[in-house]
Amino acid sequence: MKTGSWLKRNGKKGYRWTLYLMSGATALVVAACYGMSDTMGLTYSNSAQYIFADKCDSCHSGATPPAGYSTDSFAGVMGNGSDTEANVIAGDPNCTLLQKLNSDANHTLTTSETDELYDWIVSNNARQ
Ligand code: HEC
Repeated sequence: MKTGSWLKRNGKKGYRWTLYLMSGATALVVAACYGMSDTMGLTYSNSAQYIFADKCDSCHSGATPPAGYSTDSFAGVMGNGSDTEANVIAGDPNCTLLQKLNSDANHTLTTSETDELYDWIVSNNARQ
């Protein structure tokens, strides 16, 4: 059956249902984009820095931070710390920082904080 004739046969009701369908589809697309932006929009500036400030800077800042690693700036977070390898490697789920998370009492985060840092580094290439 052609949509045109269905609309004609169903009159005003047909148009109303078409409108309902279209607004439903729009709502789904918007919801899907919103869900994705949760992960896709994560950056240092809009996400990671707040976790560092809350859970890391108390130790990893100042003149002599542990392991020579500062978390109170983007440059610090991207730095090497105690060795010659960067602690954050964009896209690398095995980088030092991610391995450190939840490895001991000093580095315990909530599941959502852990997920956010993982998504920032692995899915969003540690974008600033
Ligand atoms: C209570 C103090 C404390 C807090 C809070 C803390 N750390 Fe640490 N961190 C340390 C100490 C001490 C070391 C050195 C010993 C070790 O490697 O465990 C360290 C080492 C590290 C290292 C290894 C650095 C290197 O180059 O060897 C990383 C990465 C790290 N911390 C990241 C973090 C992150 C990210 C947070 C926040 C989620 C955090 N730390 C919170 C005390 C802390």
